[in-house]
Amino acid sequence: MTQKKAKLLIDQKEIELNVYSGTEGDEAIDISRLYEEHRLTTYDPSLANTAACRSSITYIDGEKGILRYRGIPIEQFNRPRPNFIEVAWMLIFGRLPQQSELLDFRNMLSEHELLHEGLRNQFQVLPAKAPPMAILSAMLSMMACYYEEFLTLTDEKSFMEVAARLISKVRTIAAFTHRRAQGLPFIYPDPNLRYCANFLHMMFSLPYRQFMVEPEVEDALNLVLILHADHEQNCSTSAVRIVGSAKANLFVSCSAGVNALWGPLHGGANVKVMEMLESIHRGGLKPEECIEKAKSKDNPFRLFGFGHRVYKNYDPRAKILKAACDRLFAKMQCNDPLLDIARKLEERALNDPYFVDRKLYPNVDFYSGILLRAIGIPTDMFTVMFAIGRLPGWIAQWKEQHDNPTTRIMRPRQIYEGNDICDYTEIEDR
Ligand code: ACO
Repeated sequence: MTQKKAKLLIDQKEIELNVYSGTEGDEAIDISRLYEEHRLTTYDPSLANTAACRSSITYIDGEKGILRYRGIPIEQFNRPRPNFIEVAWMLIFGRLPQQSELLDFRNMLSEHELLHEGLRNQFQVLPAKAPPMAILSAMLSMMACYYEEFLTLTDEKSFMEVAARLISKVRTIAAFTHRRAQGLPFIYPDPNLRYCANFLHMMFSLPYRQFMVEPEVEDALNLVLILHADHEQNCSTSAVRIVGSAKANLFVSCSAGVNALWGPLHGGANVKVMEMLESIHRGGLKPEECIEKAKSKDNPFRLFGFGHRVYKNYDPRAKILKAACDRLFAKMQCNDPLLDIARKLEERALNDPYFVDRKLYPNVDFYSGILLRAIGIPTDMFTVMFAIGRLPGWIAQWKEQHDNPTTRIMRPRQIYEGNDICDYTEIEDR
């Protein structure tokens, strides 16, 4: 097949550029040699239209509301439901695992679920009420102090060791963070429990009473984690890739992902959604006021859980989570007034020209918090839950980048708009 070309005409000079096509027909103009060959750069603020890599992990069609992991539509993870660990393995290693591979990986997770005592002791020196995302970021970075032999990964076996350590320990770190904030003793992991049940056990068991994990609750948590597992080149994943491109180790690269995810425009939006819904519930804010505030150009307020850089349609994850909320509440024979408020808010927004014209739909964060709340997770831990879910995606993306011999350090350019050359003046002469 002949290579498709694009032509760029600048000052009567014609430049021919390669056009690459992805599996699903997306086309991208290759401008990578434009600077070296023509001293020209491209301007794309916030990298809104720049493909920074070629990837085979996740596919999104934002117009149609499609999300696939390794080719599989996420709706297929809804029923029958795989285990989060199976999805994690698939994202990282590129295909569905065989029974024996999954079992081996599970055994590795069990083997690594405890924290090094040094790391555990760190909880005593951090303020008990420190933001959980700050603790998570610090702990992932600090893992580099305890596993120095894994800072440079030269073979698949060591990579797998690190991936298993991260995926297993992140859950222990999260649960210990919660226990310490509550002034409760740490509950050690139980290797006989599945990933989600084990997490809930560490969060809610007491030394004298094992927490009984309802199957529906375990299933709901498993679903939340699966739906967060990867989302191609989003802000936190790009942070992981940027740090990883400098050949920084996997621990600190994932820690960078945690920091980016914390932002309220990204993963931190799930906390903001709950604050917004709770404020409406308490009567502090009326739904119509909320919509008007979000629309006002004089107000920085946004309708949290709405809008997305890529989705210009209903986020498919939000659709599944909304249905999961209904299912869980029906099974548990209870309700949450925040779910009713969310539904009403969504209805208003989807019928308001402001949101319709801008194609603003609910994103993953709009309903995830309600489900997490039903599971019993406190609001301040919501973004940490997102991070637990996203970790396999970060690891998969880091591996893909690391395995690609053509990867170079990531280094965007700029258009300099500062002073022209000028002189330094002594302080007394200014
Ligand atoms: N409420 C009100 N207005 C919004 C919202 C919102 N939630 N989202 C976007 N808009 C408006 C913008 O003000 C802008 O209006 P304008 O064209 O009149 O200036 C227009 O819609 C386009 O928005 P952008 O800011 O260009 O969208 P961008 O792609 O830069 O940002 C983002 C995407 C950050 C997700 C944005 O929609 C937002 O802030 N949403 C609320 C926070 C949120 O829910 N974040 C979670 C995203 S999902 C995730 O990261 C897991």
